[in-house]
Amino acid sequence: MQLNSLTLDKPFILAPLAGYTDLAFRLLCREYGAALCYSEMISSHGLVYRQQNTFDLLQTVAEERPVNMQLFGADPEIMGEAAAILCETVAVDCIDINMGCPVKKVIKRGAGCALMRDPQLAEQIIRKVVANAKVPVTVKFRSGWNHHTITAVAFARMAEEAGASLVTVHARTWTDGFSGEVDWGVIRAVKQAVGIPVIGNGDIESHHEGEKMMRETGCDGVMIGRAALGNPQIFKPGAMMPSRQSRLTALKRHLELIARFFPVERVLAKTKNHAGKYLKGLHGGSTMRARLYDCKDFAELQQVVEGFLGQELS
Ligand SMILES: Cc1cc2nc3c(=O)[nH]c(=O)nc-3n(C[C@H](O)[C@H](O)[C@H](O)COP(=O)(O)O)c2cc1C
Repeated sequence: MQLNSLTLDKPFILAPLAGYTDLAFRLLCREYGAALCYSEMISSHGLVYRQQNTFDLLQTVAEERPVNMQLFGADPEIMGEAAAILCETVAVDCIDINMGCPVKKVIKRGAGCALMRDPQLAEQIIRKVVANAKVPVTVKFRSGWNHHTITAVAFARMAEEAGASLVTVHARTWTDGFSGEVDWGVIRAVKQAVGIPVIGNGDIESHHEGEKMMRETGCDGVMIGRAALGNPQIFKPGAMMPSRQSRLTALKRHLELIARFFPVERVLAKTKNHAGKYLKGLHGGSTMRARLYDCKDFAELQQVVEGFLGQELS
C-alpha cells in the first residue's frame, strides 16, 4: 500500500486507542507484525499552547517507524499549526485527523465525529493540515452521523480532494457508538468511490476476519483496535487464537517495553489495566487478574507474571 512516499508492506494496522496506544504498546504491535500503528488522539490545542501532558504523548523511537500520530480539534488554523509543531518536534511518518470520535467531550467542541456534520469545516481542516504537514495526511471517520445520514462516500471524496493520502472508515455511525452492526457495504462503497487507499475498521477479531473484510469489500487494509488489547499476536499473519503461554510471553514483553520507556510506578494502574487484558478468557484468569491487581509495585508485577509463565513451562 502506498501513501505518497510511504510504503506499507502489510495491510494490518493498529487503531488509535486513547489510554492504550502509547509507545510501548505500539512497538509491541510492530514486533508482532502490525504494518503501522496510530498514536492516541493528541489535542491540537495542547500542542499549540505547549501543554506538557500533550507533548508527553509524542514519545517515539526510530524502531517503531512508521508511526501515525493522530490530531483532534475543530479549528483549521490551530490544527494546521499543530501539524507543523508535530513535524518539527518528532519523526512522524504520517498525521491522522480524527473525524470519528463519538465521545461527548470531543463532540461538544465540534471535533471528532461532529465534523461529519460540517463537511466544509472538515475540508478546511484537512487542507490546513496537508499544507503544514511534511508527511502524508490520513483521515479517520465513520459511516455518518446517524442511520439517516450515511455520508461516508461523499466525505471520503471530499477528503481525497482536499489532499488526504488515505482514509479509514469505522463503519458505524455516531449514534451507534461502539456497538451495533458494522456495515461492510459502506467500506465497499468508499473503496469504489476514491483512488486513495481505504482502510476498513470495526469489530475485526482475528487476522482471518480481517482478510475476509479485504476480500469482500476490496479495502486495502484493516485497522484493529479492541481485539489487539492483550492480543498483539493478532497482527501475525495466519495467527490463530494465541495459546496461554504465548499470551503470557507477550505480556512479559509488554512489561519490558513499559519499563524501558516509562517511569514505571507512575503508570502502574494503566499497566495493570493492560495486563488484565492478556488474561481475559484464560482458565483461572480471574484469579490471576486479582493477583496482578494486588501487586504493590512494578517489580512485583513483573515477578508475578514471570511466576505465571514459569508455572506454564513447568
Ligand atoms: C478505549 C478506546 C479508545 C479510542 N480512542 C480513539 C482515538 O483516540 N482516536 C480515534 O480515532 N478512535 C479511537 N477509538 C476508536 C477506535 O480507533 C476504533 O475505530 C474502534 O474501536 C472500532 O475498532 P475495533 O472494533 O477494532 O476496536 C477508540 C476506541 C476505544 C474502545
